[in-house]
Amino acid sequence: MKTLAVTLLIWLAAAAAADPIAGDPIVIAHRGASGYLPEHTLAAYVMAYAQGADYLEPDLVLSADGHVVALHDLTLDAVSDVRVRFPGRVREDGQYYVVDFTLAELRQLRIHERIEPATGELRYPRRFPADRGSFAVVTLEELIDLTQGLNAVTGRNVGIYPELKFNAFHEAEGFDFVAILMAVLDRYGYQGADTRCIIQSFEPEPLMRLREEFASDLPLVQLLGENAWGMNDVDYDAMYTPEGLATIASYADGIGPPINRIFTGFGADGRAGISTLVRDAKAVGLEVHPYTLRVDSLPEGVDFETLLALLFAQVGVDGVFTDHPDRAVGVVRKLREQAEE
Ligand code: G3P
Ligand code: CA
Repeated sequence: MKTLAVTLLIWLAAAAAADPIAGDPIVIAHRGASGYLPEHTLAAYVMAYAQGADYLEPDLVLSADGHVVALHDLTLDAVSDVRVRFPGRVREDGQYYVVDFTLAELRQLRIHERIEPATGELRYPRRFPADRGSFAVVTLEELIDLTQGLNAVTGRNVGIYPELKFNAFHEAEGFDFVAILMAVLDRYGYQGADTRCIIQSFEPEPLMRLREEFASDLPLVQLLGENAWGMNDVDYDAMYTPEGLATIASYADGIGPPINRIFTGFGADGRAGISTLVRDAKAVGLEVHPYTLRVDSLPEGVDFETLLALLFAQVGVDGVFTDHPDRAVGVVRKLREQAEE
C-alpha cells in the first residue's frame, strides 16, 4: 500500500496538471448508481441522476417477444429470483436465459443485488442486501422515459449510454438487435451526432452496421476487452495496437477499455504507470471512456479520488464508467474549481 503522503502527491500533481479541462470529462453511471442500489433498477437510475451523472448506462438484452431490457447477462440467475419463480424454465446448461422469457414473465421477477449464483454471496460484499427490496426489470423505454422526464423537470440534459450486448447470440436466436434498438432510439428522438445518446458494444459488427447500413451518426464507442475472457471471437489484442485503433476510428468515435489497460499500477519509485493507449487513441481522434471505477474494487494502492484525478487531469481520459457517480462528480467539480482558481 502506498503511504498517504504519496497518494496526496499524486492527487496534487494530477490537480496541478488540470490545464483547464477543455469540457469536463463525463461521468457515466454504470448500470445506474450500482454501487448503492441493485444494478439496472429504476431506483439505481434515479439515484445516479440525482447524484449528477452525465449519462445513465444500461446493458441491453432482448426478451422472447423482442423487448429491449436493461440487464447485463444473457442469464437471470445472478440478479433475480428466477429459480424460485420459474423452476421449470432452465436450459440444459442449468441456466435461465432472458431470451426464453416474455416481458410479462420478466416483470414477475424480483430483481436483487448481484450475487454469485453458486454460493448466494454478494458479488461485492458491502453492497445492498440481496434479500431486501422489491425491484423489477426495467425496459429501455422505461429508462428513457425516466431520463427524459427528469430532464424536462430539471432542465438538465442527461444522456443515455446503451450497450448492445451479445449481438451474435441474439442474431442466432433470430433477432436483428441493431434494428430493434434503432427503432426505439428513433422513436424517442435520439438522432444526430450531438444527441445525448452514445452506443457501445464489445462487438465491432453492430457498430459498423449502425454507421454504414443505418447511416447513423450517433456517437459510437468500441468496447475493448481481453482475448483471455473468451466472450466472443473479437481479437482485442489487435485492437489495442495503433493500427487497430486506426481501424476503430473508421467506424467509431471512441473506445471503452478496462482501466488496467491505462493505469498499470505503481512502480518501485511510487510513480503511476500509464500505458500509451490514451495517447495512441487520441492520435487517431478517438475519445477514451475507461471502465469500471468502483470504490469497493480498486487497483491496489490507490484510492478512488486519486485514481480518477490522475485519469482525468494527467492522462486525459474523456469520461469514466463508474458504479459510484457521486464520487466521480465530486472529482470533476474539484478539478474544475482548481482549474478556475
Ligand atoms: O460498458 C462498459 C462496461 O460496462 C463494460 O463492461 O461488463 O460492465 O458491461 P460490462
Ligand atoms: Ca456495460
